[in-house]
Amino acid sequence: MRNECVAHRGWSGRAPENTLAAIQLAIDEPDVGWAEIDVQLSKDDVPVVIHDYKLRRTTNGRGEVRNYTAEELSALDAGSWFSPMYKGEGVPLLSQVLELARGRIKLNIELKTDGRYTKLEDCVVDMIKAYGMEDEVVITSFHAPTLHNAHKLTDGRIRTGLILDGWRNSLPKELEQLGAQFLSIEFGRLNAARVELLKQAGIQVMAWTPNDERSIRKLIMLDPDVMVCTNYPDRWRGAMVAV
Ligand code: G3P
Ligand code: CA
Repeated sequence: MRNECVAHRGWSGRAPENTLAAIQLAIDEPDVGWAEIDVQLSKDDVPVVIHDYKLRRTTNGRGEVRNYTAEELSALDAGSWFSPMYKGEGVPLLSQVLELARGRIKLNIELKTDGRYTKLEDCVVDMIKAYGMEDEVVITSFHAPTLHNAHKLTDGRIRTGLILDGWRNSLPKELEQLGAQFLSIEFGRLNAARVELLKQAGIQVMAWTPNDERSIRKLIMLDPDVMVCTNYPDRWRGAMVAV
């Protein structure tokens, strides 16, 4: 499909980000092929799905994700901040998300780290392999060393991608050195020439996070192969119809 839609943190415009409910909404929309999620490690080294390093914004917990066990994180309320309707939605384990997504929706798994987790990439790659989902995911990160490690652990069987909010003409070369075939980039950084440069190098491009129809329309007019990562898959659908 042209300009595939990636539901950012699940369908996070409609349900609390990075919860099973938000991912289920994306699954329920047949035109949405992908969901993006953020993964960190619990105190007991279990991959968990949450964006911020601190719990305060999206849960009823306090302090840092890495200081709590997976059991403690699962028991938090990660839904009420968004709407009382979602009270009791927990912080999902990555295993729960893989279980839900397998065969239903592909996953862009962002390793959310600034280098603070030494085992994150090992634990995530092992889990993807255990679920046999190598062809159903891409692993991404802002943190190049973590991404490079992840690539080495995949035996070339899982695609990896760098996340960036800036542009450099040397990107194709840098991505090659990291073993990455995917680029996740802030949407305002793209233009037709840059997309072409990346495509020539065999790189799949995903743009985050245009959330209004006008921005999405501009993006999809650039190139049919650019993936659109948005909190509002309904607005992506509207833009696709309009062009
Ligand atoms: O993966 C792309 C995008 O999600 C990166 O930014 O802050 O939403 O994780 P952030
Ligand atoms: Ca993310």
